[in-house]
Amino acid sequence: MVRRLLLGAVALVLLVCGAGVAAGAWVWDRMSVSTVGRVEFTNPLAIPPLAPSRIDGEGRRVFDLRAQAGTRDFGRGRTVTWGFNGDYLGPTLRARRGEQVVVNVHNALGEATTVHWHGMHLPARMDGNPHQPIRPGSTWSPTWRVNQPAATLWYHPHPHGQTEKHVYRGLAGMFILDDPATGGRDLPHEYGVDDVPVIVQDKRFTRDGQFAASRRFFNDLGILGDTLLVNGTVGPYLDVRTERIRLRLLNGSTARVYNFGFADGRPFALVGTDGGLLAAPHTTGRVTLAPGERAEIVVTVRPGERAVLRSYPPAGVDRFVGGSDEFDVLQLRAADRLDASPPVPDRLVDVPRLDPADAAQTRTFRLSGHQINGESMDMGRIDAVVTRDTVEVWDVANMHGTPHSFHVHDVQFQVLRVDGREPPPQLRGWKDTVFLPPGTSMRIIARFADYADPATPYMYHCHMLYHEDNGMMGQFVVVAPGQRPQPPFGSSGHDHHD
Ligand code: C2O
Ligand code: CU
Ligand code: CU
Repeated sequence: MVRRLLLGAVALVLLVCGAGVAAGAWVWDRMSVSTVGRVEFTNPLAIPPLAPSRIDGEGRRVFDLRAQAGTRDFGRGRTVTWGFNGDYLGPTLRARRGEQVVVNVHNALGEATTVHWHGMHLPARMDGNPHQPIRPGSTWSPTWRVNQPAATLWYHPHPHGQTEKHVYRGLAGMFILDDPATGGRDLPHEYGVDDVPVIVQDKRFTRDGQFAASRRFFNDLGILGDTLLVNGTVGPYLDVRTERIRLRLLNGSTARVYNFGFADGRPFALVGTDGGLLAAPHTTGRVTLAPGERAEIVVTVRPGERAVLRSYPPAGVDRFVGGSDEFDVLQLRAADRLDASPPVPDRLVDVPRLDPADAAQTRTFRLSGHQINGESMDMGRIDAVVTRDTVEVWDVANMHGTPHSFHVHDVQFQVLRVDGREPPPQLRGWKDTVFLPPGTSMRIIARFADYADPATPYMYHCHMLYHEDNGMMGQFVVVAPGQRPQPPFGSSGHDHHD
C-alpha cells in the first residue's frame, strides 16, 4: 500500500516535471523567430518617392511633409497606419551640402507629434525633439543650412514619452545628403535603380490584422515582431540591372537589432556609416545595426542570379530579446544582362580624426535600468552644458544585461575605444548612434560646432524607443563661451495654426 502510494507520488512528480520541461521547451522555442527559407519574395520592393521640393524667393529648398493616418494592406487585411504624405513611412528628402532647407511639417494627426532630423547638425530649435511639439492641425517650419558631409540620415517623430508609438505606426523616412565636393561619385548613385533605400522594420500583427503593440514575456527591450517590412513591403524583391548596387540600410525598428549578411556568405563593401562615407571601403560579410543606425553597402551580383539578404542572430543580444532570431530580408533579382558598374574606389573620403588631446571636457554616461547616470529624462533639467566649438570626450557604459543603442543629437561623433580597444572598421567613420551590448563601454569624441542656444536643449538617449520613452534620455545645451543655460526649458519653436 505504502509502496503503491509512493510509486503514485513519484509518477505524479515525474508527470509534473515533464509538463514543466515541455512547457519550458515550448516557451524557449517561442522565444525565437525564424523566417529563413520561408519568405516567398513575391512583392516588388517599394521605393520611397523622392520628396518634391521647390526653391523659394530666398533661394531656400522647401519641402512639405504631412503626418497623417491611413490604412495599408500588408496581407492581413486593412491595418491602421500612420505616414508622411501617404499611409506608411514618408518620402525621401534629399538636399545638397550648402543648401538652406525648409521643411513645412503639417500635423494632420489627432495628437501632438514632432519631427526630428536624426543625424543632422542644426540649431537646437530646428531639431524636432520633445521641445518642438507640433499640435494637431498646425504646421512647424524649421529651416537650416545643410553643413555636413554626404550621408544617409533619417527623420522620425520624437514626442515626449510617445516616440515608440509614433514610429511603430509608420512615421519615418530617409533624408539623403549629397556633397558635391566629396566624391562617392564612383559609387552607384542612381536613386531607386542602383542606389536604394532599405528601411528595415519588424512588426507583429494582432489576429485582426493590426500592429500589435505589446512586448513579449521576459522582454525589457520593446516590441519585437515576427514579420519584416522593408520600405513597408512584406516579402520584397528588388530587380537589379547593374553589376553593383548600393543599399542604404536603415534599422528603422523600435527595438530589434539586426545582423545583416547574404545567404550565400558573399562579401560586400561597407562604404558608409551613420554620418557619411568611410575613408576606405571595408570588405565584410556582416553588418550589425541597432535601432537608429545606418550602413551603406555596395553588393556585386552576377547575371541572372538571386541573392538573399538576411539578418542573422546578432551577438550581444540574448535569446529573450531576439538574440536567436533570423530573417529573410530582401531578395535581389539580377537581370540576365547587367550594366557595368565602376569598381568601388579604394579611397572614398577624408575622415579627419578628432584628437582626444583637444578635449575640453570628459563626461561619463552610465546606462542602467532605464536611466542614465541614475536619472530619468526630465524636460526641465539640463544634464550637460557644452561650450560651442569645443571638443568633448564621452565615456558611455552599458552597466547591465540589456542591450542599448546610444544616440546623440546635433553631432556626428567618432569612436575612440570599445572596451578599451581600437574600434572595429564599422566604427571608424562618422557615427551618431552606436550599439552597446551588455557590459560594453565606448569612448566617443565630438566637436559641438557652430550652433549655440542656451534656452533650447538637444538630447542624448537610448534609441530602443521603449527605453527612451521610459526615461533613458538626457538633455544638453550648447552655449557660447561664457554663456549660461537659460531655464525654463519649456517648449519652443515656430508653431502656428493654419
Ligand atoms: Cu532618432 Cu533622438 O532620435
Ligand atoms: Cu537624433
Ligand atoms: Cu536602451
